Amino acid sequence: MKKLELNYKPSLEAKFAKLILPVLKKFLPDNIYIILYNNLYFFYRLYIRYGYFFKTLLIYSLLSRKQRNKRSFVFKLLPFTLGGPKALENAFDLTIYIEENNIIGDIVECGVAQGGTASMMALVNKKYGKSDRRKWFFDSYEGLPQPTKEDYIKGKTGSFIRPLPKGSCLGTLEEVSDLMFGLLNLNKKTTLLIKGWFQDTVPQVKDDIKNIAILRLDGDWYESTKIPLEAFYDSISSKGFIIVDDYLTCYGSKKAVDEFLQKKEINPQIKLDGRGGIWFQK
Ligand SMILES: C[S@@+](CC[C@H](N)C(=O)[O-])C[C@H]1O[C@@H](n2cnc3c(N)ncnc32)[C@H](O)[C@@H]1O
Repeated sequence: MKKLELNYKPSLEAKFAKLILPVLKKFLPDNIYIILYNNLYFFYRLYIRYGYFFKTLLIYSLLSRKQRNKRSFVFKLLPFTLGGPKALENAFDLTIYIEENNIIGDIVECGVAQGGTASMMALVNKKYGKSDRRKWFFDSYEGLPQPTKEDYIKGKTGSFIRPLPKGSCLGTLEEVSDLMFGLLNLNKKTTLLIKGWFQDTVPQVKDDIKNIAILRLDGDWYESTKIPLEAFYDSISSKGFIIVDDYLTCYGSKKAVDEFLQKKEINPQIKLDGRGGIWFQK
């Protein structure tokens, strides 16, 4: 298989954070660093959200109705995702594609956290879909597990700047239910929150999912990518999508995908989401 040579250009803010955060981490005690990081991250997210809002205002009159909807969904869901506007826009675009091109199957996300990107796919299906697809949202709802040795290269698990200890990226079942069934009023019968470790839940539920239109992998680690990819790939419809949110940022996630593609002898046309994620079409 051809080796994938993919690079993405981090934003100016990300470049700045990559420069400054390691210095702070080196000189500050761990607990102080985590508090400082969390506060900086909180303001960074506000800045991204309102920056997006003002950019949208500036170009609003030039936007089509669909683009306006996209931007309004992104603004609404930004507080509930770790992925940022580009991940949300990508989830919007690919879900629109499956609706407009009648790609059959369910929507599956493995790695939901607070539910932002999962909700984007569900909202697009609700607004633009001809049918209410089943949506399977897998997560421990207890945050990340520990990485395994497959996740490390030279003592690091990736090129990201946020600390990712066990239990981080937490979104609880209650928080996600409040978002999906309270704020967004999604259908409880077709929006299925599957709680538990992928190692247990994926094999249990696999046979209930016959066709998949979008498989979104956002579990960060090697095992968390490999398990759902191996279990669900064959159920993905022709022209359905695989999104791997952490391909260029988490070493284990990339390793799991590369090994899988090599084993299957497939060489898909990989596209970048502009912030470290990739997607391809079956
Ligand atoms: C980066 S977050 C997901 C971000 C989310 N898609 C968003 O829109 O913000 C990764 C999530 O994967 C979940 N996760 C990772 N590995 C897992 C595993 N093996 N089993 C269950 N959940 C897992 C974690 O609980 C965490 O919520």
